[in-house]
Amino acid sequence: MSVPSVPPEPTTPSDPAAPDAVASAQPEPLISEDAVNAAVDAALAAIAAATTTAALKRVRSEHAGESSPLSKLNALMRSVPGNQKAAAGKLVGQARGAVTKALTAREDEIGAIEAAARLLAETVDVTAAASAWKAGARHPISLLTERAADVFVAMGWEVAEGPELESEWFNFDGLNFDEDHPARAMQDTFFVEPTDAHLVLRTQTSPVQLRALLSRELPVYVVAPGRVFRTDELDATHTPVFHQIEGIAIDKGLTMANLRGTLDHFVQALFGPEAKVRLRPNYFPFTEPSAELDVWHPTFKDGARWIEWGGCGMVHPNVLRSAGIDPEVYSGFAFGVGVERAVMFRNDVKDMHDMVEGDIRFSQQYGMTI
Ligand code: FA5
Ligand code: MG
Repeated sequence: MSVPSVPPEPTTPSDPAAPDAVASAQPEPLISEDAVNAAVDAALAAIAAATTTAALKRVRSEHAGESSPLSKLNALMRSVPGNQKAAAGKLVGQARGAVTKALTAREDEIGAIEAAARLLAETVDVTAAASAWKAGARHPISLLTERAADVFVAMGWEVAEGPELESEWFNFDGLNFDEDHPARAMQDTFFVEPTDAHLVLRTQTSPVQLRALLSRELPVYVVAPGRVFRTDELDATHTPVFHQIEGIAIDKGLTMANLRGTLDHFVQALFGPEAKVRLRPNYFPFTEPSAELDVWHPTFKDGARWIEWGGCGMVHPNVLRSAGIDPEVYSGFAFGVGVERAVMFRNDVKDMHDMVEGDIRFSQQYGMTI
């Protein structure tokens, strides 16, 4: 670092304050260039050696603070003879300026280094899975139910819902179950107190057939997913709370062929194009004829086989009459299938317990899609 030197003021013979000036060639200036350069060099070396903000702060107070060599030299300015003041002032001023500039530059450097180190220490890996908050997953029952409903919506059907706490009339009587018909015992029912209110937890989604017919103009094409209840024990293939998807279509001239075609399309949309439907004669009070509905698919996990999925049939004339519809003019079909069963054979869930226990690890296998 070179600091411009201040030429000593020429002494004049007439100067009464310096009678020996002529004899003693040059008086030592009060503020010597060497002293200033030494102070600057020491300051610059200390500045360069500082590697932290704290160290630089100490350097600043040592080399630019009130008791620093440069400040002391500056303090001598008061005693510098008038004719030397300008040069001495320039010498010290430039020295202090050089030190301040070096301090500021080093401060910026250290600041940048420290910021970089901080960023490195606080680095967030945006590709890492968050550990504090885990994304949930929808339950496969909900996903499959929606998917099934979508198949019908795409055909122009409406989606309807009914109450889970249902009147006995909608669940049984209106559906052609006689008062003491043994069919009532087919579905073991939770009766709800007070018994004279005749309320039950619906044992099937079939009451929505009647509700749909009573609340709509004909023709009716409705799909009704929902939760149902039976006094069944929880085991590998049964649960007391499960889900069904009901369908009902009432129009002029509908036949078993329409039922069959609708079911073929439904199972192929849900399970794949190779899926097949088989109808086996069965009995339900609210359909005539009635059939058990079996499904077959080559990739079912336990091998290609027929599995009972639900029931179906042509809507019984008495049910149409319950809804005020003339069975001589209108006809139609209905079906009801179990959603849990579908998840079991479609997604190879071996045990119904997994579906009802609510363990997030079970749902997460399906993510947001099924
Ligand atoms: C019925 O519930 C009739 N309502 C179906 C129907 C609708 C017939 C419309 C005709 C016209 P079923 O009791 O068989 O039928 O039950 C239908 C399906 O629900 C069964 O095939 C099975 O897939 C499922 N299911 C029945 N009980 C349980 C249970 N405890 N746990 C899980 N799924 C069950
Ligand atoms: Mg059955």
